[in-house]
Amino acid sequence: MSLPESTAPWWKSAVVYQVYPRSFADSDGDGIGDLRGIESKLDYLAELGVDVLWLSPVYPSPQDDNGYDISDYRGIEPVFGTLDDFDRLLAGVHERGMKLVMDLVVNHTSDEHPWFVESRSSKDNPKRDWYWWRPPRGGVPAGAPGAEPTNWTSFFTGPTWELDEATGEYYLHLFSRKQPDLNWENPEVRAAVHEMMRWWLDRGVDGFRMDVINMISKDTALPDGPGGDGSAHYLHGPRLHEFLQEMHREVFADRAGATMTVGEMPGVTVEEARLLTDPARAEVDMVFQFEHVQLDHGPSKWDLTGLDLRDLKATLGRWQAGLADVGWNSLYWNNHDQPRVVSRFGDDGRYRVESAKALATVLHLHRGTPFIYQGEELGMTNHPFTSAAQFRDIESVNHHALAGDAALPGLRAMSRDNARTPMQWDASPNAGFTTGTPWLPVNPNHTEVNAAAARAETDSVFHHYRALIALRHSEPTVVHGNFTMLLPDDPNVYAFSRSYRDTELLVLANFTSEEQRPDLGFPWWDAHLMLGSHSNGASVLRPWEARVYRR
Ligand code: NOJ
Repeated sequence: MSLPESTAPWWKSAVVYQVYPRSFADSDGDGIGDLRGIESKLDYLAELGVDVLWLSPVYPSPQDDNGYDISDYRGIEPVFGTLDDFDRLLAGVHERGMKLVMDLVVNHTSDEHPWFVESRSSKDNPKRDWYWWRPPRGGVPAGAPGAEPTNWTSFFTGPTWELDEATGEYYLHLFSRKQPDLNWENPEVRAAVHEMMRWWLDRGVDGFRMDVINMISKDTALPDGPGGDGSAHYLHGPRLHEFLQEMHREVFADRAGATMTVGEMPGVTVEEARLLTDPARAEVDMVFQFEHVQLDHGPSKWDLTGLDLRDLKATLGRWQAGLADVGWNSLYWNNHDQPRVVSRFGDDGRYRVESAKALATVLHLHRGTPFIYQGEELGMTNHPFTSAAQFRDIESVNHHALAGDAALPGLRAMSRDNARTPMQWDASPNAGFTTGTPWLPVNPNHTEVNAAAARAETDSVFHHYRALIALRHSEPTVVHGNFTMLLPDDPNVYAFSRSYRDTELLVLANFTSEEQRPDLGFPWWDAHLMLGSHSNGASVLRPWEARVYRR
């Protein structure tokens, strides 16, 4: 029998690094990051040791949602550069033995995409049916409150329907009104998307991260939802598996093994993920699930509640167990939509370095493919926003417009702009991000928290990430080992083991600012310490200390 490690797809032992191009590195001084800026940092990423870069969208876009509103699927937004710059970047990635994954945003386009411009031009335009057009609700005059075809609320507040005055019909937009939803029921839409995907793969890209891809199949009856929540009718719709299998056949099947796909799927359950990531069904390689990043939400993401470590362990443990025999997990704390994890689940004050390392250790020792979001490897923190005027993100701006200054504490903690402040390269005035004025202010702590300082200091968060990535590459147990959660009821310590053949790894992390003495029923501290955040302290875990033992 062959060992899993000899037949496993390459992305099971890979670590992915997400670049948010707008905020990574600016080569031309306009205050906005760009492709040449990314190219200039490839040696840094190679030094970190990551295998794959995922680029958030770089396509032409009116930037209503920072590029998640695409007006041309086959080009590069001028502010980021040109297709030639892209090809150079891709070559530079491949030269260094890394791969590059594009963001694929095909639940919706921009309202400035030629497809939508045609679609809205008249009711009998051949592309009319490429989007979701509906007349006003029976008996209610167009434009009057309640005339929207459903009662659904959009992710960015307000109704999901926008009236087009010229034709008197509404179009559906689950996100902003500048992001109309494509109608995947129409086979021409699907064929056009597949063709575009093949075009990028032929150009050399290695896969896709698929934006809200579990929203592409909707209940065509478009029923109302309770309290305006339409999600039951557009999440994981009736034809989702069919559409993904078709996409796999049309785009990936004849490139077997070379590509990687990860589908972003808000609301996805373990049971659905087993189907979606079962290799035998040929849909996607991994999904991004959201359960662990909603544990600290109240009724909405803006209502702050703390995190109970037991809930985090129960959730991630359930995903580990659920995808143990079939499918594969993605692992993440951060991305461009989430606040910084060290501020959220760690301690961004006294124990910033320690807690960033503890969080990293726990995540990277789980079974699955870890995703690092730019700056996470430096322990970058949330931004100290003080006023509503500082937010740029459409979600934050719209939320504030509705809720007023009472929303400020929630925005400060949860705004997506926390993730989007410029990458902190050095201690200079704009953190080495730009020579111009950054589009979003640099975090004042860049004088201390920055890549130059972290690279120079041997026990920095950066070097801890390097060690974790190297461990994944050298130790098959990290990739393939079975996962067993330990101490599920301990509110303070995250503990688990991984076992593969005759090796067992034991992972312990103190999630508090006090010393902890976890009782595993045996003298665990006698084992061989492979990797730790502190020098050996025997049976006492110091505040936010993390250790990996080999037995
Ligand atoms: C999910 C993306 O991650 C987010 O940034 C975006 O606003 C929505 N999808 C809409 O594309």
